[in-house]
Amino acid sequence: MKKLFLITLLFLINHTIFSQESIAIIPKPVSVVMHNGNFVIDAKTSILYDFHNKELSNAVQFFSSSIKEISGIELRKNLHQEKSVNFQIKQIPNIGKEGYQLQITPTSITITANSKAGIVYAVQSILQLLPGVRTNAILKLPCVTIEDYPRFEWRGMHLDVSRHFFSPEIIKEYINLMARYKMNVFHWHLVDDQGWRIEIKKYPKLTSVGAWRVDYTNLVWGNRPQAKPNDDATYGGYYTQYQIKEIVAYAAERNITIVPEIEMPGHVASAIAAYPELSCSQKFQLPLTGGNYTNISSNYCAGNDSVFTFLQNVLTEVMQLFPSKYIHVGGDEVDKTPWKNCVKCQNRIKQEGLKNEEELQSYFMKIIEKFIISKNRKMIGWDEILEGGLAPEATVMSWRGEAGGIEAAKQKHNVVMTPGTPCYFDHYQTGPEGEPLAIGGMNTLKTVYDYEPIPKELNDENKKYVLGAQANLWTEFVTTAEHVEYMVLPRMLALSEVLWSKKDAKDWIDFNKRLQPSFKYFDEKGFHYSKGNFNVEIKPTSINNKLSVTLTSEIPNAIIVYTTNGTEPNTLSNVYTNPIEINASLTLKAAVVVNNKVMSVKPAEQKFVIHKAIGKNVTYQYSISKYYMANGNNSLTDGVTGTFAVNKYWHGINEKDLIATIDLAEIKSITNISINCLQKYADWIFLPTSVQFEISTDGINYTTVGKDVNNISTSIKEPTIKTFSATFNQANARYIRFSAYNLKECPKGHPGEGKPAWLFADEIIVN
Ligand code: ACM
Ligand code: ZN
Repeated sequence: MKKLFLITLLFLINHTIFSQESIAIIPKPVSVVMHNGNFVIDAKTSILYDFHNKELSNAVQFFSSSIKEISGIELRKNLHQEKSVNFQIKQIPNIGKEGYQLQITPTSITITANSKAGIVYAVQSILQLLPGVRTNAILKLPCVTIEDYPRFEWRGMHLDVSRHFFSPEIIKEYINLMARYKMNVFHWHLVDDQGWRIEIKKYPKLTSVGAWRVDYTNLVWGNRPQAKPNDDATYGGYYTQYQIKEIVAYAAERNITIVPEIEMPGHVASAIAAYPELSCSQKFQLPLTGGNYTNISSNYCAGNDSVFTFLQNVLTEVMQLFPSKYIHVGGDEVDKTPWKNCVKCQNRIKQEGLKNEEELQSYFMKIIEKFIISKNRKMIGWDEILEGGLAPEATVMSWRGEAGGIEAAKQKHNVVMTPGTPCYFDHYQTGPEGEPLAIGGMNTLKTVYDYEPIPKELNDENKKYVLGAQANLWTEFVTTAEHVEYMVLPRMLALSEVLWSKKDAKDWIDFNKRLQPSFKYFDEKGFHYSKGNFNVEIKPTSINNKLSVTLTSEIPNAIIVYTTNGTEPNTLSNVYTNPIEINASLTLKAAVVVNNKVMSVKPAEQKFVIHKAIGKNVTYQYSISKYYMANGNNSLTDGVTGTFAVNKYWHGINEKDLIATIDLAEIKSITNISINCLQKYADWIFLPTSVQFEISTDGINYTTVGKDVNNISTSIKEPTIKTFSATFNQANARYIRFSAYNLKECPKGHPGEGKPAWLFADEIIVN
């Protein structure tokens, strides 16, 4: 009896594991019930459907050609055989336009939905249960009942084809990947300063001139010289209207709507290269070669009526190509300076009674919206279109954080959330070590998975304006299909689950399990992808003057190993189990081990210093920036020293001096004080000009014990940490005051020349 029980239990456990793994669908379906047995797709399988229904026929064709591609089996249609795959469109409550029901038994597969969209998604779910590449064998599916429908209606992926042009074949591959994971909006960023990518018959120079730039692909984006008038513009490309129609139809077969972005009124140096009369300056130029905007016109003139005629003509052709309800008109990052200096723009402001250039942009967008609405479409734009007043029916894409989206939803406008964190897929996902050069920032797979598109600031009434979310892939640093794949895989899968699956069904460990078959699929198909973020997070906490550290990793069940003697951790190093107490100055290094292999490209590293001011209170003359509070008020005395990551451990202050007083709580005998400061040229952070150290026993009368003057040039671009210090004869002190003097302004030649400089300081070490 006992033995039998054990066997039954083992069977149950095995069975459960098999069931879960056999149904590794991403995004996770709403409801899955497994049954015993399999359905086998072979030559005796027929498809049954109403061939009068064109939409259904289209979806059936997609299914049968996919099956043929994998197995070589040509499924017969509407022939009664012993096994059938039944497709039905009929009214089903509660699953919406995109939902589906899928029932697999040993003798039949039944797919039911309210529309073609649901049928296509049922097929995608089936395809995820089948091999990814050709097997030439019969296909086996587990018996299962699935009911499934999405949480959000806008499940978007954006691709910038201006910064780099990607061929129609690459676009179709992108669409295929989106479709497999039930993403349904492709935001096609067709216009920007570095290339105009859509053929417009009425304005042929947009592509004959605007689609081509001087090729500096060998140089990093920001370091490219500008084109000179007679340079050969050879780099680029564009989509003909014929190609666009074909891609739109290809996407529609997969239930993907393409939302074209025709950027305006800024980011249009390419259009101005084609037609200089569209700008305020009306000067000749070529499209930008990279990120250098010096002396370039990148705005349309808002005072020139023929600009609006031009845009209406362009949009008319665009709307003939794209059936999408939404037309994206950009609106981001408009430098208002050319408008300030333009007579026509200033006249427009006067005539229309506008207050400023922000209202001029709003005026611009309202004219365009009126035109778009007159064609029965809706306008969508980046969140800057809120400035100066939102156009009456505009939808807002919130990219500079969530604030724009929250504001628009409160104003009862639809919004699509795409905040830089975590929706910008041009950021690193594990690196920068070991990853291709990216624009910066870091959005790991888990930060994407943990994302909640409805900001908590919205009440139940306003929440309904959030249509969904979207990931954006800008391509300043992305030039190949392989690199595109790497940036979106597997982060898009995490986003698809955020947008499709039930909020309370989120489960990071389970998602990771279901990710494995997708990794196998990517391997089989030759897609490049990130295998995971193996970084270790070192998190120090300082409580009651005791310093301890926790180590965490995003990898489920990862083993974390660490050293405290400065050596590189390996598989034989200490295994982390509980928070580590730090009692002496040391450097901690930690790495992730999976299958007995160190996975971290570079171990995480943190230096700790134990000294006489640990845990002591610090007060500041001028407040620290709220963006750089590090671990809070006592970050300078927490024993943790800052690294080159600016968003951790450093206290930052803008323009002002950093003047701080440390209270040691009792009189102590000291001989040395030091403070670390950071220079990070690219982030406008400069070393202080000097640091003065003072001590006191009563907190009133101070004695200067040293002044350390900076000897490192402000033009050094490599991140640099300098220790400023004072060593003196043994002295008694309870209070220590240091004054780090801010450079005040970014130096000459710096991109922020004359603007306020940052000063970053960390750990004040007292001995
Ligand atoms: C944007 O990233 N400039 C919308
Ligand atoms: Zn103007």
